[in-house]
Amino acid sequence: MTEARRILGIDTSCDDTGVGIVELAPDGQVRVLANRVWSQTVHAQYGGVMPELASREHVERIDDILQEALKEAGLALTDLHAVAATSGPGLVGALLVGLMYGKGLAQALGVPFYSAHHLEGHIFAAASEALLQTPYLALVVSGGHTHLFDVPAPGRYDLVGATRDDAAGEAFDKIARLAGLGYPGGPAISEAAQRGDPGSVPFKEPLQGQQGFDFSFSGLKTAALLAHRGGATPENLAASFQQAAVKFLVKTTVRAARALGRRTVVVSGGVAANAALREAFQQTGLNVVFPGKGLNTDNGAMIALAGAAALQAEKAPSPLTVGAEAYAPLANT
Ligand code: KG4
Ligand code: ZN
Repeated sequence: MTEARRILGIDTSCDDTGVGIVELAPDGQVRVLANRVWSQTVHAQYGGVMPELASREHVERIDDILQEALKEAGLALTDLHAVAATSGPGLVGALLVGLMYGKGLAQALGVPFYSAHHLEGHIFAAASEALLQTPYLALVVSGGHTHLFDVPAPGRYDLVGATRDDAAGEAFDKIARLAGLGYPGGPAISEAAQRGDPGSVPFKEPLQGQQGFDFSFSGLKTAALLAHRGGATPENLAASFQQAAVKFLVKTTVRAARALGRRTVVVSGGVAANAALREAFQQTGLNVVFPGKGLNTDNGAMIALAGAAALQAEKAPSPLTVGAEAYAPLANT
């Protein structure tokens, strides 16, 4: 292939309507040309995502977000060479909107369609910064996942650790709510933590002494509840919880990297936007790769990047019969 190709990516797995466009150069380099996300606000009044409302809002917004993305990239629909959309995991009704839209668009344009795994998208979000070279470890920390994968070769994902209860982002969200800091909790905790004392609330390290590389946040959540009832200020609670969560995530990942002999670690997903987490990882001496700005939380560009990787690897397009899957383990692709 001697020409650059442009791939459209769509993610509607939860409460963000994301459309992104990337350019794949003949040498395999990728560049994000557009990344537009509509973050649904309709759920705030319920304190959590209402699946049916999410689906409806995706339907209402997706046309506009696509037009915005094309405008940002300075492209027309006919400039696209492939379309990728998330098929899972996520909310089935929400996933279906982007998946069907993507298939229809690919069919109408006569270009290949690729279904993408949401977590692979999160991992590939880091490919916008540095071309990923296997082997590496990938820590995906989001509102729905805390998964640690060993990636020994392209498309091979060996799960080496996962949360036993809440996801990391979920813990940030729940503790922020408890402390009255608002939603989404990650950015709220991070902001409040700057004004708090990280040593003021003692948090016990979860799963101390484990041989494996699992995660757990329920103990931190209970400790936060007790501290809140005991009169800890929101700022002190935020600073102390953030420090404990960051320490635990970094320590477990570094242990896994040593055990598996990996030097490169990709950290992605919404929680990877956390400044304290980034700083702690940067001090580990490992080669740590984070997604670029706007690519940590759910977005369409990361799905376009997954599509670009499929194109580059000359994978066969997905059949248009592919369906949405609520639970889809990231198996070897
Ligand atoms: O990847 P994402 O957009 O959605 C899922 O696939 O779940 O991640 C959203 C999660 C939320 O729980 C949010 O609170 C968290 O990412 N998050 C953060 C930060 N920004 C977003 N957590 C910690 N620090 C942040 N700065
Ligand atoms: Zn996500």
